[in-house]
Amino acid sequence: MAKGKLHNTERVPERAILVGVQIAADPGLLPLEDSLDELALLADTAGLEVVTQTYQRINAPNPKTLIGKGKVQEIKALAEELDAQVILFDDELQPRHQRELEEEFGTKRRVIDRTALILDIFAQHASTHEGALQVELAQYEYRLPRLTRAWTHLARQSGGGGGRSGGVGGVGLRGPGETQLESDRREIGKRISRLRSDLEKVRAHRGRYRAQRKRARIPIIALVGYTNAGKSTLLNALTDAQVYVADKLFATLDPTTRKVRLPGGREALFTDTVGFIQKLPHGLVKAFQATLEEVKEADLLLHVMDVTHPNVHEHAEAVMQTLDEIEARHVPMLTVLNKIDRLDDPAAAQAALAEFDGAVAVSALTKQGLDELLAAVTRKLYETLTPIEVLLPYEQGALIALFHEQGQVDVVEHTRTGVRLSGRLPGRLLARFSEFAKGRKAAAAASPREVE
Ligand code: GTP
Repeated sequence: MAKGKLHNTERVPERAILVGVQIAADPGLLPLEDSLDELALLADTAGLEVVTQTYQRINAPNPKTLIGKGKVQEIKALAEELDAQVILFDDELQPRHQRELEEEFGTKRRVIDRTALILDIFAQHASTHEGALQVELAQYEYRLPRLTRAWTHLARQSGGGGGRSGGVGGVGLRGPGETQLESDRREIGKRISRLRSDLEKVRAHRGRYRAQRKRARIPIIALVGYTNAGKSTLLNALTDAQVYVADKLFATLDPTTRKVRLPGGREALFTDTVGFIQKLPHGLVKAFQATLEEVKEADLLLHVMDVTHPNVHEHAEAVMQTLDEIEARHVPMLTVLNKIDRLDDPAAAQAALAEFDGAVAVSALTKQGLDELLAAVTRKLYETLTPIEVLLPYEQGALIALFHEQGQVDVVEHTRTGVRLSGRLPGRLLARFSEFAKGRKAAAAASPREVE
């Protein structure tokens, strides 16, 4: 099921030159060449045609143009020769760099950076109201300090990208004595505050929905992972969710949640989230806070990795960094090594399993290993429960049922005064059972997170 068409597929794609920069003091997570390869995939996803790529290693950024003067000239000549309309930088450009580079490359060419590209892809893929609001806010916040003549050019060019945001060139009426740029800035400022307040409302709604789900007491399992690791495919394999799957980066933007029955009969909600990527700008992560709250409040994270990718370790590191940034490192995690069908040597899966502690190897495509995965999820959820023994009087039928539904019952004993249940319960339910608990060990043993 396609979520939306890439806007450039129906016209002649723009031709782009990719530019990588490595600054000695801050070499980045991925080797320069690998990061450029990733940028090429992003460019392809956004519908650009990459005509060549180039890079420069520098000790310090040039204050005007980021890259050195000679490199600017070299790229200019390349762009002439290859008839490239887009110069795409692999790192976020400061507004000043962008302005100076636009001057250098002239009006026929656009200078864009990784952040603008990712935003463009997000804009193409946002299919819910919330997703669209988040992208629009992130786009305006990114554009505000960069508002120049060339920006309006970019907005018009990006077509579907930016979607409802449209071009600033046409917004608002100029106040007395204002330049077009000033009135554009003022208008954008207004839109930003409106979007923030709209998002606040959506967030409050989502919070209420989450509270409802919590009351329903179904464990929530969030799939996280580097973009293209196979999260959507895995969710599809576990359910019949029909989440859009594509060999493109960031095919998934909006969270999709589906119910899955675990071995033993308990149900859990699995939710797919936006893919992570290295160099994900802080502002963007912030803009996606509402979506990412799903991750923070999950009972368990499944960290899905493409075990066949040569940069799998760096990808895992980038995911961890993002989890840190959104304060989600406290959530218990299970590592899922995906795409094992692609490994020629079965021993390679074993080696990978040895490397990632407690991981489960699967193929979301062939559905190999899914039973083991669900068993591991059940075990892991069980580990997050707190041991408890209670003696429930027979008239406490609701509590007896709740323990069976939400907890893990190890021993049942029918006594004269009631049912003795021994097993484990989610921390959030402990308080309701405490007056029937044998000893108070259980509550004391609960982790701070579990005692809600
Ligand atoms: P984002 O939306 O970018 O976060 O991606 P994602 O992690 O949701 O990945 P998605 O499920 O869209 O899969 C990306 C690509 O990997 C698609 O072409 C899938 O068909 C492919 N893929 C996913 N799982 C497997 C697998 O187990 N084996 C193989 N061979 N390919 C897989």
